Amino acid sequence: MKKTITLTAAIILGLTAFAQNDISTKAKALLAKMTLDEKIGQLNLVTPGGGMLTGAVVSSDVESKIKKGQVGGLFGIYSPEKVRKAQDLAVKESRLHIPMIFGLDVIHGHKTIFPIPLGLSASWDMGLIEASAQIAAKEATADGLNWAFSPMVDIARDARWGRISEGSGEDPFLGGEVAKAVVHGYQGKNLAANNTMMACVKHFALYGGAEAGREYNTVDMSRIKMYEYYLPPYKAAIDAGAGSIMSSFNEIDAVPASGNQWLLTDLLRKQWGFKGFVVSDYTSVNEMTAHGIGDLQTVSAKALKAGLDMDMVGEGMLTTLSKSIKEGKVSIADVDQACLRILEAKFKLGLFDDPYRYIDDARPAKDILTAENREASRKMAAHSMVLLRNNHQILPLKKSGTIALVGPLAHNRRNMLGTWVVAGDWQKSVSVYEGMQQAVGNTANIIYAKGANITDDAKFAAHVNVFGVQADIDTRSPADMINEAVAAANKADVIVAVVGESADMSGESSSRADISIPASQQTLLKALSATGKPLVIVLINGRPLTLVWENEHATAILEAWAPGTEAGNAIADVLFGAYNPSGKITATFPRSVGQIPIYYNHKNTGRPFDGTGIGKFKSNYLDESNDPLYPFGYGLSYTKFEYSDIKLSKKELKGNEKLTASVVLKNAGNYAGEEVVQLYISDPVASITRSVKDLKGFQKVSLQAGESKTVSFEIGTEQLSFFNSDLKKVWEPGEFIIQIGTSSAEVKSEKLVWNK
Ligand code: NOJ
Repeated sequence: MKKTITLTAAIILGLTAFAQNDISTKAKALLAKMTLDEKIGQLNLVTPGGGMLTGAVVSSDVESKIKKGQVGGLFGIYSPEKVRKAQDLAVKESRLHIPMIFGLDVIHGHKTIFPIPLGLSASWDMGLIEASAQIAAKEATADGLNWAFSPMVDIARDARWGRISEGSGEDPFLGGEVAKAVVHGYQGKNLAANNTMMACVKHFALYGGAEAGREYNTVDMSRIKMYEYYLPPYKAAIDAGAGSIMSSFNEIDAVPASGNQWLLTDLLRKQWGFKGFVVSDYTSVNEMTAHGIGDLQTVSAKALKAGLDMDMVGEGMLTTLSKSIKEGKVSIADVDQACLRILEAKFKLGLFDDPYRYIDDARPAKDILTAENREASRKMAAHSMVLLRNNHQILPLKKSGTIALVGPLAHNRRNMLGTWVVAGDWQKSVSVYEGMQQAVGNTANIIYAKGANITDDAKFAAHVNVFGVQADIDTRSPADMINEAVAAANKADVIVAVVGESADMSGESSSRADISIPASQQTLLKALSATGKPLVIVLINGRPLTLVWENEHATAILEAWAPGTEAGNAIADVLFGAYNPSGKITATFPRSVGQIPIYYNHKNTGRPFDGTGIGKFKSNYLDESNDPLYPFGYGLSYTKFEYSDIKLSKKELKGNEKLTASVVLKNAGNYAGEEVVQLYISDPVASITRSVKDLKGFQKVSLQAGESKTVSFEIGTEQLSFFNSDLKKVWEPGEFIIQIGTSSAEVKSEKLVWNK
């Protein structure tokens, strides 16, 4: 059996290598026919506008540039009709008829929108995540696209940074698993199939390490921190075969990523063996000028030399590279190399066999926003929700009596999709009111009141309303709105308050210095709490929030993120128990902003504080606990899971031996449910300081009420290894603590000794 598998793998690999050679031969043959201007033209990625513009510049004269062979790819347009028109210009009117690639920010779905990526990761369900990317690819390719600017795999330990919503949170291992799942989902087994598309991993690299969580801010970190915590998800995506990667806006070691040779060539290509192409972020080449690296010609040459192949929007390469060649600042060979990589990507996508293979007028109606896709989104959304609190088992709710449904996000389709939904139509989404009403029919009475504005602050609202009015300010006074909500609450058996952030209060250019629920909504929650009725808070938001008051006063809290197109239905599924929540948070929820950055895999320090006494001269705060409000990996269920002690198959190991660590997990409650069983390992003594623990495995296990299962993890030296001072991945002998549990803060543990 083993032999057959190895042989089959070899044949597949052999064929792949053959196909790769074939592609590079064809690309070289084409390159030989190209003029220098045409080669430089392939490095140019433009947007004609109409998408979601994330910078000041929009490309001009796009049509005539395409005809002149000055455009390698387009982004920001979709639909077979529009893509065909553009492709016609390249294929029929340019000298060499080279097709363009068509990209878009397909981030969490194309038109059927799935939960924001932070929510997706909270499902810890790689099968569902991969399926969501597969559906996104099917829809996007039906709309003429073949290149997704996703997955975003930036590790983020700072919830002030708005783009924490676009990634998988703080953990490198989980981030890597999600990255692989998404790449596989988009690219499938055959990149040239008309329902798969090329992934673009972003933002390379360390973009989530922005100082003070302020968007586009400086990043400065040690190599060990990079290798150990920030780089693994990019590497995982590349190992999974991602065809392209996007350089980030920030600097690394004082050199902007888009012109950083160490990053784009030494690390990415030489160490990691990346064979695809590198695209800049939106005008990030030009922005090196503002970083202080030089004028447009200098930075464009620097980017090319560093290993950047395609210039997004800025056209620095288009307008200055010929001059740089004449002046000997870059060589034709540099341009050839970048151009070849782009041509190869187009060959891989099958565009030279058929430039129109992704353009089929019949497909949108068949493939987009189908009942099946919506069903998948509903399931995914329910699986991504995290039950943060459930006092007195108030949830699941009964479908009877009177429910006061209040809050600015309770009867609101506009904000259900979250950030980065270029092609998503919020009008096609389901509000919480609609979903709950549909779920209860005539069996319960739902009274709705808006209760508050998302924010009463007009300036703040203007900030977050750039892509349309998401945070509207009601004509009624805040007091009138609260009175209406309190009156509804007084008539009800239970209050469901849907509060949080509008869609673009997180995402790009949406850093916040205060990450609490906005004041207008807090005032509403306080008034509701004062009624004495059970208060269930449903959170719609894109980042960890500070929720100390809410945690103390609400009866239950359900973190629903921005759930996507099927928001209201999925929330109703969870609130009424059709689905028992199983999500676990993937980014720590701080108690206060002052604790940030806060993450579970921190170091111990020389003066660790164990939480007892006042802790003078220990590593702590005078005015705040060190503990988060909700730790990484935390999330409740309607049922109760019990963990046995850990059983280790061996307690003393040597060299490359392996062991099995297992627990018996029992569903001791009354509902069927799923639990994310998490494996952490601590390495208490090493040649360098290690984090207190690191996630090394997880399994999502489904159990009927009363059922038990043994959950086992195989552990080898790979899980013990880390990057040492020489940036070599090593493991060092000694004692290790194996931990298995329900969150990073609640685990069973066992020690073992591993010798060389
Ligand atoms: C800027 C963003 O940083 C990036 O994620 C996105 O893909 C591009 N704009 C294109 O829209």
